[in-house]
Amino acid sequence: MSTPLNNTTPEPRRAEYASREGEIVIRPHEYDGIQEYDQMLPNWWLAIFFATLLFFPLLWIGYYQLGFMKSDEEKINSQMALIEKAKSKALDEMLAKLDDDALINQWAKDPAAVANGKETYLANCSACHAQDRSAKMVLAGGQSIPLPGLPLNDGQWKYGASALRQFQLINDGTPADNPGHNGARMEAWGQKMPPLKIVEVVAYLISENTKDFVVSTGDAPANP
Ligand code: HEC
Repeated sequence: MSTPLNNTTPEPRRAEYASREGEIVIRPHEYDGIQEYDQMLPNWWLAIFFATLLFFPLLWIGYYQLGFMKSDEEKINSQMALIEKAKSKALDEMLAKLDDDALINQWAKDPAAVANGKETYLANCSACHAQDRSAKMVLAGGQSIPLPGLPLNDGQWKYGASALRQFQLINDGTPADNPGHNGARMEAWGQKMPPLKIVEVVAYLISENTKDFVVSTGDAPANP
C-alpha cells in the first residue's frame, strides 16, 4: 500500500531510475507493501565509484600482466643488490691501495687508526680472542680457561705473518677447507663491518705485534 508522506507532498513519480539529481522516483515494484526509492547519486560520488572500478583492471594488467610495478620482494632484492655492489666497490677500492707496506708503515703507525681498531677489537673480537689478545679468560681463582679464538699475541700466525693476509682472514673468515682451531672457524667480518674498520683492526693488531710483521721483498715469513 502506498501512502504519500503527508497531504501536501506530491506523490513521487513512478519510474525505473531517477535521471536528474534531486528527482525522487519510486521503483515500479512493490512487495508486501515495501517500496523502493531511486535517487540519482551525486556526480562526485559516481566519479569516485567509476574511478575505483577502472583502477582495478588497470592495476591488474600493469602489475601482474605487464610487470610495470615491482613486488616488495623484487624491491628488496634490487636494494640488496645495490648494497652488495656498493660494499664490493668499497672493498675493491680499499684492496687496490692496500699492501703489507701500507698496513705496516702507514696504518699501523697512525695513532687514530690504531685507536679506532682497538675499539672495534674490544667490541667485536675480545669475546673469542680476549681483551689482552691471549685467547684466555682468567677466572676469579686465578685459573685460566681457553676461549674459542687463537691467541693474537703469541708470535704465532697460523695462516702466515703477512699483514694483508690478516686483512683477508678477518674480512673473508678463516678458510673453509681448514678444520679450524679446535674445530672452530672464524666468520667473515666483511659481512658485518666496512673495509675501513677491518683495516683499522688489522692496524691495531700489527701495532701490538710489530716484531712479527715486517715488509718482505718475497713471501712473508710464515710461522710453523
Ligand atoms: C666467535 C669467536 C671469534 C670471534 C668473535 C672472533 N674470532 Fe678471530 N678467530 C676465531 C677462531 C676460532 C679462529 C681460528 C680459526 C682457524 O683456526 O682456522 C680465529 C682466527 C683469527 C685470526 C688468525 C690468527 C692466526 O693465528 O692466524 C685473526 C687475525 C683473527 N681471528 C682476528 C679476529 C678479529 C680482528 C676479530 C674481530 C673483528 C675476531 N677475530 C673475532 C674465532 C673468533
